Amino acid sequence: MVNSLEIAPSILGGDHSALGESVAQIKNAGLKWVHFDVMDGHFVPNLSFGPGLLKALKKKFPDMFYDVHLMLDNPHLYIDAFADAGADLIAIHAEPDYPIASTLDNIHSAGKKLGIVFNPKTEIGAVIPYLPRVDLVLVMSVQPGFGGQKFNPVALEKIERLAKLRDELKLSYRIEVDGGITAENVAECISRGCDTVVAGTEFFKNGEALISAANSAIK
Ligand code: DX5
Ligand code: ZN
Repeated sequence: MVNSLEIAPSILGGDHSALGESVAQIKNAGLKWVHFDVMDGHFVPNLSFGPGLLKALKKKFPDMFYDVHLMLDNPHLYIDAFADAGADLIAIHAEPDYPIASTLDNIHSAGKKLGIVFNPKTEIGAVIPYLPRVDLVLVMSVQPGFGGQKFNPVALEKIERLAKLRDELKLSYRIEVDGGITAENVAECISRGCDTVVAGTEFFKNGEALISAANSAIK
């Protein structure tokens, strides 16, 4: 594997009355990445968390790595807010109409890692222009907006193509998958080349089995 395996539990799947506890659970499971889903009610039909919550969690658990997934029509307007709040990586979607390249510049100038995300219905061509400069490509395996959906296997071919391209282009971006990941399908994602696994529902329900299935899939 080019990169170490990281499991990034999504606190969207945690207990919303005690999200600090959810981060503590992630830490106690020996994990470092926290997947933080931000939704605007426009790009996706749901609302979730803002920079205030991120800031509070970063203050309480400063050693965790905050993997911020912006599901926003206007992500460029919120980069500074999430960077200041403590994001370690900020991933922006390829679909909405906004200046993607300059938004990546902004994330870079804020000293954060860069991610580009694309939906199940979006072709891989939408992210290819950004591959040389991003730290992570996030492959959605559900239509974003809600936790607890079923994994769409269209993600598997995309993971495989991204791994092949990474090799051909001599790059080292991470390949992350998000949506419907379970102890049953995580090994298949890893064997196709995914090194960063988001899991909401499954981590908080069946975390040990998920982690052990993921670890045993590493070549
Ligand atoms: C979906 C979010 C996901 C979600 C994953 O819009 O981007 O991160 O929390 O949840 P599960 O693992 O339950 O599909
Ligand atoms: Zn997400």
